[in-house]
Amino acid sequence: MKTDTFRGRDFITLLDWNKEEVESILDLALDLKRRFAIREPHSHILPDRTLFMVFYNQSLRTRNSFEAGMTQLGGHAHFLDPGKIYTPALPGKEVAYSTERVSDVARVLARMGDGIAIRCYGDPVDWVYGGATEVIQNFAYWADIPLLNMEDDKYHPFQALADVLTVKEKFGGFSGVKFVMSWAYSPSVHKPRAVPQSAIIAASMMGMDVVLAHPEGMELDDEVLESCEGYADQTGGSFEISNDFKDAMRGAHVVYPKAWTATPMFKPPVGEDSAEKAQEIFDANKDWICDQSVMDLAHREAVYMHCLPADRSFEVTDDVIDGPQSVVFDEAENRLHAQKAVMALTMG
Ligand code: CP
Repeated sequence: MKTDTFRGRDFITLLDWNKEEVESILDLALDLKRRFAIREPHSHILPDRTLFMVFYNQSLRTRNSFEAGMTQLGGHAHFLDPGKIYTPALPGKEVAYSTERVSDVARVLARMGDGIAIRCYGDPVDWVYGGATEVIQNFAYWADIPLLNMEDDKYHPFQALADVLTVKEKFGGFSGVKFVMSWAYSPSVHKPRAVPQSAIIAASMMGMDVVLAHPEGMELDDEVLESCEGYADQTGGSFEISNDFKDAMRGAHVVYPKAWTATPMFKPPVGEDSAEKAQEIFDANKDWICDQSVMDLAHREAVYMHCLPADRSFEVTDDVIDGPQSVVFDEAENRLHAQKAVMALTMG
């Protein structure tokens, strides 16, 4: 398909893109991956372009894949620590000479560069579900250059792109692939839900047979679930929810167990503002761990996926994440290629 309509667009959630567009992004990502592998120069794609990266939270993969990706495309990625600039803030959250209104920051950066990428979830927005999405959407409203979501409290679209790219590489396509996104135990309840939400959006958009597994109390956003049901109807795939970890894994081609926080962690009206209640739900489900006996329930060609960082010995055992079925480093690597594709198409 023609991709010149991609130029200038934001990449905040996959819900704003359609299946054909995502397939085009994946095709370009695979081509860029091939060119990177043989060291075919491609620094002519974004010469002299600048991406401003604002990280309210920590990161290994996201920061380094965007930064390396911009360098390889011929541009530059500039890291901005919100604590070392005037922290971008929405009206009502401003503190004199400590913060700067998002609308002002966005318009300043848009005069100097070609894209703004933001990561924001959890503590910086005081665990108000949707608070970080509001920050990112406000940036996007005021900046007339592409806004890239590097993970907010609802979506992590670049992780999801890398995930489905990895599935495409491992299984050759999406039809008939059983993709199980499951909750898993972690000692930390401070876990965003952007990864599972974007993963099930991407997997169902691409037409996989998607199962979302979690204990009661770990429900995801109703709007996301409705979107997944809609994609399943459109593509001929399927979407189911299970509260049974082991049953969900039977016959799975993709086993993707990962912790996310319980609903009570968020502030009302979404949650109860109770980290203690969230902790109780976590503690009641410590047996949601991916060990080899769980992998043995899956398809014999199943792959183990995780966005990383993983909580080893809690979400997954070492023998699984370090074992032959694990594709976690392919996923991490594919962040680079998927993001380069989006940047090339939107910032070119
Ligand atoms: N998967 C992921 O987004 O990793 P980082 O938190 O290290 O960026």
